[in-house]
Amino acid sequence: MPEAPELGSLQLAWLEELGLDRRLLSRYTVRTETAPAQETPKQAGSPEAAHIPGVAAGDAASSAPAADSASTRDGVAAARGLLRSLLGKKDAAPLPLPAVPEDRPSAKTTEAAPEPGTLDALRHAVLHCQACALHQDRGTGVFGEGNTQSPAWLVIGEAPGTMDDRVGAPFQGRSGELLRAMLKAAGADASADVFFTNVVKCRPIANRPPVAEEVAQCGLHLRSQVALLQPGRILALGRVAAAALTGQDADLESLRGKVWQYECVSGRRIPVIATYHPGWLLTHPYHKAGAWQDLRLARDLGKD
Ligand code: URA
Repeated sequence: MPEAPELGSLQLAWLEELGLDRRLLSRYTVRTETAPAQETPKQAGSPEAAHIPGVAAGDAASSAPAADSASTRDGVAAARGLLRSLLGKKDAAPLPLPAVPEDRPSAKTTEAAPEPGTLDALRHAVLHCQACALHQDRGTGVFGEGNTQSPAWLVIGEAPGTMDDRVGAPFQGRSGELLRAMLKAAGADASADVFFTNVVKCRPIANRPPVAEEVAQCGLHLRSQVALLQPGRILALGRVAAAALTGQDADLESLRGKVWQYECVSGRRIPVIATYHPGWLLTHPYHKAGAWQDLRLARDLGKD
């Protein structure tokens, strides 16, 4: 049996970020290395628009992924080379199944079911859901987190990312940091005024956008979740969420700048604002000014 090739921890992190399946990566031994120092994100300045990090001219680099340090560049180049060699392998052995963490919900779990019609019951249903193929590769479903008592804001993204799938909470990492900073600039305290969730509750492999069938299946959970949360407003991040919440099969630009109404199962109409996804803003910082306009529109709802 040939010895398993070694991967640096930086290479591993990049390959995971690029969306490589953990089953594939588990075949490699990980070499421990000293990680490069992380830059602390800069605080934004005082003018209103500049409250979103990167809106002010010249500040964009502070919120972009730290891809310009030499060690990161080396890591990326090495990871890309390895990725090419991995994907080029035509006759690779069948992949071993991933180890199942002890606390991962399974269909055999026998714990008492929570009260039907409650958020706990819905969370239970989401974490055990097998309605589409996404459950086969999830680490854990990501129900969402935040204020569950009629939050002022319900923020809805596309689907959990790699880190979210590992920890079971949405918007971990740099896009989550940016999102929280944007909300703070709009006067929303992420830990008190907001509930965060996604249209699709399980991570699509390789972080691809969810397909229509996955959106439709998980949309049933989302519909119940909105009805149970009764938020003041909904902020839809990116095209997938914007289309799902407005019911329009349109591009994001044509959905921005308007107040849509989401009709809840109770018949209550909840205002919806569509804006850019924070992950997109990290790589396209010049759209932050537009995102700020959207957030102001959402913030000012109901003021007049
Ligand atoms: N993490 C989430 O929870 N949602 C997204 O849309 C992206 C990353």
